[in-house]
Amino acid sequence: MTSKWIKGGTIVTAADTYRADLLIKEGIIAKIGIDLSAEAEAEGAEAVDAAGKLVFPGGVDPHTHLDMPFGGTVTADDFATGTRAAAFGGTTTVIDFCLTTKGKPLAESIATWHRKASGKAVIDYGFHLMIGEINDEVLAELPAVVNDEGITSLKVFMAYKNVFQADDGTLFRTMLAAKDLGAMVMVHAENGDVIDFLIRQALEAGHTDPIYHARTRPSIIEGEATGRAANLAELAGARLYVVHVTCEEAVRQIAEARSRGVDVWGETCPQYLTLDETYLARPGFEGAKYVWSPPLREQRHQEVLWNALKSGQLQTIGSDHCSFNYDGQKDLGLGDFSKIPNGGPVIEDRFSILYSEGVAKGRITLNQFVEMVATRNAKLFGLFPQKGTIAVGSDADIVIFDPSAERTLSAQSHHMNVDYNPFEGMSITGVPLSVLSRGEYVIRDRQFAGELGTGRYLKRSPYTASSGEAPDRTAASAKS
Ligand code: URP
Ligand code: ZN
Ligand code: ZN
Ligand code: ZN
Repeated sequence: MTSKWIKGGTIVTAADTYRADLLIKEGIIAKIGIDLSAEAEAEGAEAVDAAGKLVFPGGVDPHTHLDMPFGGTVTADDFATGTRAAAFGGTTTVIDFCLTTKGKPLAESIATWHRKASGKAVIDYGFHLMIGEINDEVLAELPAVVNDEGITSLKVFMAYKNVFQADDGTLFRTMLAAKDLGAMVMVHAENGDVIDFLIRQALEAGHTDPIYHARTRPSIIEGEATGRAANLAELAGARLYVVHVTCEEAVRQIAEARSRGVDVWGETCPQYLTLDETYLARPGFEGAKYVWSPPLREQRHQEVLWNALKSGQLQTIGSDHCSFNYDGQKDLGLGDFSKIPNGGPVIEDRFSILYSEGVAKGRITLNQFVEMVATRNAKLFGLFPQKGTIAVGSDADIVIFDPSAERTLSAQSHHMNVDYNPFEGMSITGVPLSVLSRGEYVIRDRQFAGELGTGRYLKRSPYTASSGEAPDRTAASAKS
């Protein structure tokens, strides 16, 4: 393992922007200083020229679905192609959703997810665990899930009726159990029962086109489910994280709950900040490319989301990467929008879209960018300070970023294993040039330099009730 000297760059953290060098030893940031040439020479460290560049902590993507069966098919990206694309985009940690099956031990599902990732991931990864039912067996397994597996976030779906959806009793009991264990509860907040009715009504009326995906999932029922989850979290005294917030109604519920002191956090995604529901109405079956749940909204919601990020009402950006090819997968829903696999490819472009649309366009600051794309995510999910920042003792997960380079997003040039890019043609300012994972190049001058299977599983820490942030955990570097 070679030591590295990152010289001449501008370091950006969630708190500060300053000119300094970094010295990396054994995959860890060993020293930060204005000029580390003497130390680097003594160490025989390899120089990495960062003059004129920004030096960011690697992105932490808190929301991915790799190698996941869904909608009668399996996502196009697995842990090899997905994490490689993530690295190209400046992300060095992903937290993926481990699905579970009712009646099956949680441990079996977790073992399945370990098999999917190991030998493939090129960056470090952790898991969230889906909870679909609460019974004595599940309750008996949860302490080991949190304490031994280091899975400290439990996901409950309030939508996808007859597939993943859990009822409110299950959600509430998950919150009570999670609170006792220091685990956070995540929700997909939409009213699945109402959506189920609206879908059946639309199909009976002969409305089969992709646009009806949006029309059968109105924003008011995302707001309703978000408020319901926040109320239940308040009652349980639990910590809640609402994934993929898309609309004003949901933002308002989160902001109100936070103002009451409820421990609730909100994530949005690049697609909801930049695309709108007119994409779903594109001619032919083109709209299928833009089928996410919750759906893309009217354009006016984008400004609400940006303002919520800027003001801290929403705190994180996830990709919700869940890729399906247009040819052969999305077309399962030809003639019936409800059969279009839900999700899209975003893992590679999350970091750059937030930089370009957020920082370069003056909507958020450089430090807010780092907070949303890395630091807050690491803190909320029990990975800080091992991940999510540039500090002495942290893993040397580093992005050397050219803030002025311009490029165009396209399926022709992306690295995701999927035949379209939802952001096709979008002009982007800023390029992740080189990316290090624990001090080793994964991307070097825009070329892949990593190795399949070098990504490590991350056991994450429980949270402490008072902190609002996950605690420092020296044992966080324990790998399994
Ligand atoms: O449409 C989406 N978001 N697909 C991925 C699964 C989920 O609901 O997050
Ligand atoms: Zn080495
Ligand atoms: Zn979801
Ligand atoms: Zn998702």
